[in-house]
Amino acid sequence: MDTIPTDWKWIIMTNVDKLFNRINPKSGEFSFDENVAEVFDDMISRSVPLYQEVQQLIPRLASTLNHETLKVVDLGCSTGTSLIQIAKFFPERKLELIGIDNSKPMLERCRENIASHGFSDRIDVRHGDIRDFDFSDVSIVLMNYTLQFVAIDDRHELLSKINRSLAPGGFLLLSEKFIHDDVQIDQTLTELYFDYKRKMGYSELEISRKRDALENVLVPFSVKENQKLLQEAGFHEAELILKWFNFGTFLAHAG
Ligand SMILES: C[S@@+](CC[C@H](N)C(=O)[O-])C[C@H]1O[C@@H](n2cnc3c(N)ncnc32)[C@H](O)[C@@H]1O
Repeated sequence: MDTIPTDWKWIIMTNVDKLFNRINPKSGEFSFDENVAEVFDDMISRSVPLYQEVQQLIPRLASTLNHETLKVVDLGCSTGTSLIQIAKFFPERKLELIGIDNSKPMLERCRENIASHGFSDRIDVRHGDIRDFDFSDVSIVLMNYTLQFVAIDDRHELLSKINRSLAPGGFLLLSEKFIHDDVQIDQTLTELYFDYKRKMGYSELEISRKRDALENVLVPFSVKENQKLLQEAGFHEAELILKWFNFGTFLAHAG
């Protein structure tokens, strides 16, 4: 079995994210366009705490499944990092790897990354809206940092379809940014998160411009709201397996 690289940048070479130094979008005008796609891998690795840990966790969790074909659907696959990890980790295993994203610029990068790893025939990337999800017998659905971009009213139906699509033993890995019910706790964790971004090299200007751009575009729920949503969608168990202040990952088994 392949080992997981300790530095995930070994997997994807990326441009340094200086985007919000350069542009000053209006409030709520963030989109996954060419500008974002160009720097996305650096952006997400420096903006999302535990991103690398989540990537490393995916093949480990996948190893626990004995499905003859490991069928993985990555919703909001972006530049393909997770699917490439899986293809690297299981060189011999029968895989069906499918990535869905509705951003053409992101998918262009995704296809380039996949080709540069020689996995074009192992990973199927499709342009589309994840709300049109229509799969069956899936071993793993990945939805990392994507549900927060889906309209609130559409989240229940999407999660219900995911639940119904999973093969016995299959699971959803869901990562999100969180808000917290208690205002003081929420403010403290937000401040700690901005500290994290400063430490990762982002300036005050970049932090505040990106925050404004994401206003009402990225709409996070609390841990409890997400767990309720998962339960109402029929998931049997939704355990928060990773949490860093206002980011975290659920492992949810099909009900
Ligand atoms: C934060 S990124 C996801 C990161 C990725 N899962 C990873 O782990 O590297 C969110 C992605 O979801 C995509 N997206 C957002 N809403 C979508 C929708 N309704 N249908 C398809 N893709 C969507 C965006 O284009 C973007 O590439």
